Amino acid sequence: MTNKIKPGQSESAASRRTFLKGGLAAGGAIVAGATAARSATPDKAITEPHEWAQTLGEGVDARPYGTPSEFEKHVVRRNVSWLTATPESSVNFTPLHELDGIITPNGLCFERHHAGIAVVDPAKHRLMINGLVDKPLVFTMDDLKRFPRVNKVFFLECAANSGMEWRGAQLNGCQFTHGMVHNVMYTGVPLKYLLEEAGIKSSAKWLMPEGADASGMTRSVPLFKALDDCLVAFAMNGEALRPEQGYPLRLVVPGWEGNMWVKWLRRIEVGDQPWHAREETSKYTDLMENGKARRFTWEMDCKSVITNPSPQAPLKHTQGQTVITGVAWSGRGTIKRVDVTIDGGKNWHTARLDGPSLDKSLHRFYFDFNWDGKPLLMQSRAIDSTGYVQPTKNELRKARGTNSIYHNNGIQTWHVRENGAVENVEIS
Ligand code: MTE
Ligand code: CO
Repeated sequence: MTNKIKPGQSESAASRRTFLKGGLAAGGAIVAGATAARSATPDKAITEPHEWAQTLGEGVDARPYGTPSEFEKHVVRRNVSWLTATPESSVNFTPLHELDGIITPNGLCFERHHAGIAVVDPAKHRLMINGLVDKPLVFTMDDLKRFPRVNKVFFLECAANSGMEWRGAQLNGCQFTHGMVHNVMYTGVPLKYLLEEAGIKSSAKWLMPEGADASGMTRSVPLFKALDDCLVAFAMNGEALRPEQGYPLRLVVPGWEGNMWVKWLRRIEVGDQPWHAREETSKYTDLMENGKARRFTWEMDCKSVITNPSPQAPLKHTQGQTVITGVAWSGRGTIKRVDVTIDGGKNWHTARLDGPSLDKSLHRFYFDFNWDGKPLLMQSRAIDSTGYVQPTKNELRKARGTNSIYHNNGIQTWHVRENGAVENVEIS
């Protein structure tokens, strides 16, 4: 059910996720002075020595493979219990509200498995290319590493990201509403080099990548995409792929729905038509109001979300200098602009894009403003390099109905209360 209420209804009468539209102060967008600094009164935390300065710390032999500080234990992937009937066929979510910049650390990339994490021995792993080719080939991992390789940053978003929000605001936290996305620098071989090696027959139009896990996942990928920018990747953020992400080899399908990025990649069949696999018929299709289903909706539409503040990351102050930040991405290119509103869409401000602006990657944005302490209704709206503007949730529902799970790229609203608490709402 939706958590919308009509203007005029009192906020307390509504559920915790609803919000009364109107009557909000439009906070100014100018940062005033250094109000965030503490005053110069004596503070034991600076005048007294701490326990960590009294003894020697651990030596260089203590952490052969480093892990985050013990004070960062809350920075973890999380799942939603009612979405996790069996952990082997489920999903967990990237803690977007704990991250900054654009790169997702390897241990925090959300996971989506259909048959658990396969433990694949790279020495025994092979990639086969067969079907409509002149020369069927089998590659070892060492063979693949003799092809020219490239490094590229791409987001991977599951088509079901934000799927639980189609009918109304539901999950309280951007980790859960938007955390089926990660952004990683991949090292891999352009798939076209391998296809050229095998020799594609002139009748070839489609590929069917297949996973080596127990789900043997398959999807039909059009040949034009494979020849354009797909990679066969063996490293992420500089190190070998993590087991969760398909070690030792995964397909990278930039800008397209995560389901096509086959993990533990073992075979690519070349054909002249799509295979109509489970993942492109009963799943990953969008049932419309008229009973027809959209198919092969591969590209991930332009989308953004404010990650801080957000329900899991409330504001810790009650007025003054405040930073809003979030991420934006598009499966069709780069992000041209992100607009932010703090008054439910009455006024929009251009956010500051910072950090690299890469094709089919997350982009980081900031909006720095002076909070007057009144409740806020925050939204972000991204515009990509093709000029596409991220739609509202209601615009999406008008176009596609509410039967869908997939491809929800609607504008997210967060309600910030006077005490800094944040909740997931929709504006009616
Ligand atoms: N590949 C295989 N072999 N098995 C799987 O279960 N899940 C798919 C895709 N590739 C899957 C797979 C889905 S639905 C998504 S969204 C992405 O992998 C998730 O990738 P990640 O686990 O790196 O986040
Ligand atoms: Co998925």
